[in-house]
Amino acid sequence: MSRRRRWWAMSGLVASGLLAAISWSIASAQAPVTLSGDPLKGRDLFIHKGCIKCHSVWGVGGKLGPDLTQVGMGRSFLQIAGALWSHSPKMLELMRRRGMPLPTFTPEQMRDLITYLYYLNYFNEPGDAHRGQELFSAKGCIHCHAVGGMGGSVGPRLDTFGRYGSPLYMAQAMWNHGPRMTAEMVRRGIRPPVFRGKEMADLLAFIRGRAVSGTPTPRLAIPGNPLVGRRLFAQKGCRRCHAINGMGGQVGPDLGRREWHRSVTEIAGAMWNHGPKMWAKMKQLGIPRPTFSQNEMADLIAYLYFVGYTDPPGNVVKGRRLFAEKGCHACHTLGGGEEKIGPDLTLSTAIASPLELAAAMWNHAPTMEKLVQEKGLPWPKFDDDEMRDLVTYIRSMARGSISRRQVP
Ligand code: HEC
Ligand code: HEC
Ligand code: HEC
Ligand code: HEC
Repeated sequence: MSRRRRWWAMSGLVASGLLAAISWSIASAQAPVTLSGDPLKGRDLFIHKGCIKCHSVWGVGGKLGPDLTQVGMGRSFLQIAGALWSHSPKMLELMRRRGMPLPTFTPEQMRDLITYLYYLNYFNEPGDAHRGQELFSAKGCIHCHAVGGMGGSVGPRLDTFGRYGSPLYMAQAMWNHGPRMTAEMVRRGIRPPVFRGKEMADLLAFIRGRAVSGTPTPRLAIPGNPLVGRRLFAQKGCRRCHAINGMGGQVGPDLGRREWHRSVTEIAGAMWNHGPKMWAKMKQLGIPRPTFSQNEMADLIAYLYFVGYTDPPGNVVKGRRLFAEKGCHACHTLGGGEEKIGPDLTLSTAIASPLELAAAMWNHAPTMEKLVQEKGLPWPKFDDDEMRDLVTYIRSMARGSISRRQVP
């Protein structure tokens, strides 16, 4: 399938599964910031606001700027907003030079656009069958499993997995059969395989290409439903050992943390890789080992994937330092004091939410850029969680000034 066709096929899949994800964002009222969006609208904005003239996605689009397929990988909402902001001077300059209108965004549009960039990685790039063939031998599967009539017969034939569009179904079966399979490996002196990156997708691409005909009709992957996944996370006992952003058990690592914002295949790989240790811990603590059926693994992993989108609350102390370091205080006051060239940000409607702040900052980038240049200040760039900490600080000052104003 051509890249373009694949892309549109994928967009259709996105459409069907995403409403669930959106309602999830709305439903998780306990989340520190509730940011939901419509990635399909975001995709339209990506085209109509001209981003596609310079940026490609899955290889389709302009080449002046970097391909943005992976820009959301490992980044939360405010981190993506931060990347957009940090690169705005270069982008604005290029747009001006090409006579392109400078795009502005309503907060909703900003949300949809960033949601779109985040969702892109929910669908992995398709696997590489050649690489998959190498892995099938290198990881030892070939000793025990046959595909297309070739391979060992200790375990069942794997041809049927070829009909799935996603490696998650194979990952699910591997998890379910994990203890027996690893015991068999240990008995035969085969090192249990560890999966990195999109290796599971590569394996599946190989299986799909080799599977003997007569396998049942192909099944397109149903995108996981993070709302169901959140429920499963509790029901299957994961929460007893794992916290999400500090809430939950402490036996295993917190799955809300940064390093954790990976692609879907990587999350599935990590579950497999850590399986033996987890199963041992479960036994020790008397927690029954969960198994998964139907779409459950996909749902669970969708939950773990989307958890990374929402920023946990930022650090006010760091934010205060950033407000000075990034030069904001040269032009802005926060709740009174001597008047400066820019508005008092605690009085701005933009501080209502991190989303509105991100949109307002982008929209004012051209004005600020000019002023920053005149004053000889460097363009403030944001790394990691700096945008989040800054936003948290500005909003905390606003709350203070609102309550001060309310005092008669
Ligand atoms: C005129 C060309 C142009 C247009 C239009 C444009 N960009 Fe860019 N963009 C660039 C270039 C060039 C860079 C790299 C800039 C740099 O290195 O500082 C970039 C960088 C970025 C980055 C940072 C990438 C990273 O890896 O951190 C993001 C995010 C981004 N653009 C998003 C967008 C979005 C969203 C739009 C549409 C609103 C857009 N861009 C429109 C040229 C453009
Ligand atoms: C040492 C032998 C051995 C190796 C090596 C091995 N497996 Fe297995 N595998 C088995 C056995 C035995 C079962 C059935 C376990 C059971 O019945 O619970 C199984 C089950 C499975 C299943 C579930 C099949 C189904 O129909 O539900 C999948 C999927 C699977 N293995 C994939 C793999 C992959 C991929 C690799 C290589 C990374 C691999 N296995 C390596 C022995 C092995
Ligand atoms: C009995 C406690 C326990 C339960 C229950 C449990 N885990 Fe774990 N989990 C652990 C431990 C301990 C580790 C770290 C293992 C290691 O270091 O290899 C871990 C590691 C992981 C990792 C890898 C994390 C990383 O940093 O790469 C993932 C993903 C994971 N668990 C997901 C789950 C999911 C999903 C469930 C529910 C189906 C679950 N776990 C249930 C204890 C548990
Ligand atoms: C060189 C001066 C200057 C610097 C430095 C500067 N700003 Fe601004 N900022 C302005 C001016 C002037 C405006 C009003 C622009 C306009 O109305 O178009 C503004 C507007 C804004 C707005 C929109 C307010 C509203 O009500 O719409 C936000 C939010 C903002 N700035 C945040 C920041 C942050 C955060 C920093 C530090 C990273 C920063 N600014 C650094 C001059 C500056």
